[in-house]
Amino acid sequence: MEYYKEYIFWLILAMKIFLAHAKVPALIVFGDSSVDAGNNNHISTVLKSNFEPYGRDFYGGLPTGRFCNGRIPTDFMSEAFGLKPFVPAYLDPSYNIADFAQGVCFASAGTGYDNKTSDVLNVIPLWKEVEYFKDYQKKLKAYLGTAKANFIIREALYVISVGTNDFLENYYTLPHRRSQYNVDQYQAFLLGIAEKFTLDLYQLGARKIVLTGLPPMGCLPLERTTNYFGGNGNECIKSYNVVALNFNGKLNGLVQKLNGELTGIRAVLSNPYNTLLQMIQKPSAFGFESAAVACCATGLFEMGYLCHRLNPFTCPDANKYVFWDSFHPTEKTNRIISDYVIKHVVNVFL
Ligand SMILES: *[C@@H]1O[C@H](CO)[C@@H](O)[C@H](O)[C@H]1NC(C)=O
Repeated sequence: MEYYKEYIFWLILAMKIFLAHAKVPALIVFGDSSVDAGNNNHISTVLKSNFEPYGRDFYGGLPTGRFCNGRIPTDFMSEAFGLKPFVPAYLDPSYNIADFAQGVCFASAGTGYDNKTSDVLNVIPLWKEVEYFKDYQKKLKAYLGTAKANFIIREALYVISVGTNDFLENYYTLPHRRSQYNVDQYQAFLLGIAEKFTLDLYQLGARKIVLTGLPPMGCLPLERTTNYFGGNGNECIKSYNVVALNFNGKLNGLVQKLNGELTGIRAVLSNPYNTLLQMIQKPSAFGFESAAVACCATGLFEMGYLCHRLNPFTCPDANKYVFWDSFHPTEKTNRIISDYVIKHVVNVFL
């Protein structure tokens, strides 16, 4: 009996030492639907996905509000750091500060760098994600004490994934920003916001920062369908991909600038563009059967409420598709992208 107690004592001590030395004690996530774990469930927007068939390959088949059949990239990253196998949404009342101490997601589907983008579908603007982060810090300090909370805030990995909606939902869809800015000027405008946002996080204590580039957004099934009805066949919209590449180059410039100017910061660019484009161009090389259309419903245009559980066209096996709905990758795609990013980009923090 005594031996048993002693054993437990040493085991707990060893675990505490391990946790105190874990290089990344928490994953803290900002951005849009590429990383939203379900915050939109708790705000008044039509852009939600907390119903079947979303989440059908998640733990327990649970539709959490992730825009996916299963897990999203930040879930895989969290697991790779030895943390939870998924990152909970800050607004989800079934989790509390004890859970969030290891990882928290402030992201909101449909948001952008630009305030005007979050207005379109009434979702959480990026500046408000920062307000939630401040609120989180207060709760973390109350829960763990200031010293431990500051340790987590300093050593956590901050993942930011946003920007696609600024172009697809806003700039190319609504006239306002297009009448103000040409596409180069709009990119400069967004990068200014990205810089200010990163600086805000830095001033709030963040040091390890991952900025995520744009995907080949002209190849999302919805854009290919739009192209088709514009009389151009079911091809990717090349000009959108050019803009994404261009933006990613500039974002990389911002990352270098931040590393040069801010003491103690370590920022990296996570760029999923090429990995995703390879899957789209040669789906069979990755075991996929289709990249042009998505799994859910007809795969041509549906997402959110249109991706409905009673739709008879939804594919039986999402692993055969690069895209789950017309705007978002399947879990399998997310896993391939995350594996690449973990091995080649965020490995510096492992
Ligand atoms: C976005 O809105 C917030 C809150 O009103 C404001 O503080 C911020 O300056 C705005 N951002 C830009 C780039 O206009």
